[in-house]
Amino acid sequence: MARALEPKDSDQVGARLLEASVRNSYDPHLDIDWAAPLAVGKAYMPFERVSLYGTDLWRGLSEEQRIELSKHEIASIAGVGLWFEIILIQLLVRYAYDLDPTSPHAQYALTEIGDETRHSIMFAKAIARFGAPVYGPGRAIHELGRIYKTIAGGPSMFAAVLVAEETTDRLQRSTMDNPEMQPLIRMVNRIHVVEEARHVRFAREEVIRSVPNLSRAQLEFHRLATAVVAFAVIDSLINPRVYLSVGIDPREGRAAALANPNFHETRRWMAEKVMEFLTDVGMVGGPSKAILRRAHLLR
Ligand SMILES: [Fe+2]
Ligand SMILES: [Fe+2]
Repeated sequence: MARALEPKDSDQVGARLLEASVRNSYDPHLDIDWAAPLAVGKAYMPFERVSLYGTDLWRGLSEEQRIELSKHEIASIAGVGLWFEIILIQLLVRYAYDLDPTSPHAQYALTEIGDETRHSIMFAKAIARFGAPVYGPGRAIHELGRIYKTIAGGPSMFAAVLVAEETTDRLQRSTMDNPEMQPLIRMVNRIHVVEEARHVRFAREEVIRSVPNLSRAQLEFHRLATAVVAFAVIDSLINPRVYLSVGIDPREGRAAALANPNFHETRRWMAEKVMEFLTDVGMVGGPSKAILRRAHLLR
């Protein structure tokens, strides 16, 4: 077994993550200049990551419209990210309920709840600053989330959290050091990337620790649960109403995006690292892989 995949002591991991949190955490109220004017002529995400990039609809858009669509797509991703963070906060609260609160492991889980609370405020403030709607996932997924956050647990809970965190993380990393991008979103992304690196570590360790204890039937159940939630999250990131911002009918825009090989490639790129990890640890495999292929998370 590769060293990275060997289970580690949960309190040692927790203690290290707590130390890092004390050293390097942000407060979106203080660390972001919300009053700074938005830069004119700068995109909000790289054009090649916009869902319509390369399609006929894209070719019909002016430079200003392309920037506008990039703004609404990043606002949609932030809104869905925020929705998932509020779910995650509730999952972590339920998780911490059974832990010894004096342990570093429990205290890191509580710290992560605090991080996600600040992130949700940060994303909400960014959405408001852009003057974009809070898109969020569709109505049905919003309601299913209500059930999910009440019942999810075990390795598939942390595996699904990893899919949500690592896919958006990859996109954010690609913009934070890019001077062509809007400065406000770069700062938001930089803060998120720093704090999410710890969350990813925590969730990965949880998956590594819990997968070997599963029976064959339990493993297939958790693989299936991971794949279904991963599909729902990735498919919700771009709310079809974003296309209205550039005068495209939401149904037409969504159909074009779902048929766009460039967008499929973007999804696989966003999921590349987390799929590699989940495959190595055994959480991706068997019949549920078909769902991940349909979601364009796997080839
Ligand atoms: Fe977050
Ligand atoms: Fe997180």
